[in-house]
Amino acid sequence: MRRMGLLRVVSVSVATFVSGHAPRLVKRNSQTILNVAFNGLTTGTEALAATAPMFWDLRVRSLEAQALEPIKALDEMRGGTYAKDRAVSTVVSRLNAIPEYRRMFARAFGGNRPVDDRNLGRALAAFQRTLVAADAPFDRYIRGDTPALNAEQVRGLERFQSIGCVNCHNGPMLSDFATHVLAVPDNAKLPESTRV
Ligand code: HEC
Repeated sequence: MRRMGLLRVVSVSVATFVSGHAPRLVKRNSQTILNVAFNGLTTGTEALAATAPMFWDLRVRSLEAQALEPIKALDEMRGGTYAKDRAVSTVVSRLNAIPEYRRMFARAFGGNRPVDDRNLGRALAAFQRTLVAADAPFDRYIRGDTPALNAEQVRGLERFQSIGCVNCHNGPMLSDFATHVLAVPDNAKLPESTRV
């Protein structure tokens, strides 16, 4: 049964490509949005929602701004149908045409014309902030529940610390939210190098 479910999902996602638009290869795999509410949080700092770094290359600050980027990106949601500077306004006008969305945006944000770019970003960011997973065995261990990790796992954690992974992967999000040159090779399937 599970296999059939998977097949169905695959066929739906292929069918959603507008005909004439070849699927495009993105340069990097998507990051998880689990716990993205805490982006920017490192040991001893406060995560400031307005300046929280987003994407692998930290190119956007705040979840509100991040949420609109995939709508504008050629190889994510936009495809070749709209110009980049019209992508978000097109989505906004489509949402405005749906009374239920107008009502819900009015209830959430007030104002005369509640469905706009800014409130779309805020709505998507608010949803993303609900996706919190902070109860893995590792989280419990760090909170003081020592038996949450077995001896082998604790050895792994010690190795993670002793060989220097923690130099970059540390703090509550296991990240320093800085960019690092890691010598990752180019993806041969991409038409051009993504070296920086
Ligand atoms: C010089 C800094 C640095 C060191 C040291 C380092 N990493 Fe990373 N690691 C990164 C960066 C940068 C990324 C890319 C993802 C990101 O920006 O968080 C990454 C990504 C990862 C990921 C994928 C995370 C994801 O969200 O997909 C894993 C797993 C990982 N590192 C494990 C390790 C391990 C294990 C070690 C030690 C052997 C290590 N790293 C040492 C910087 C570092």
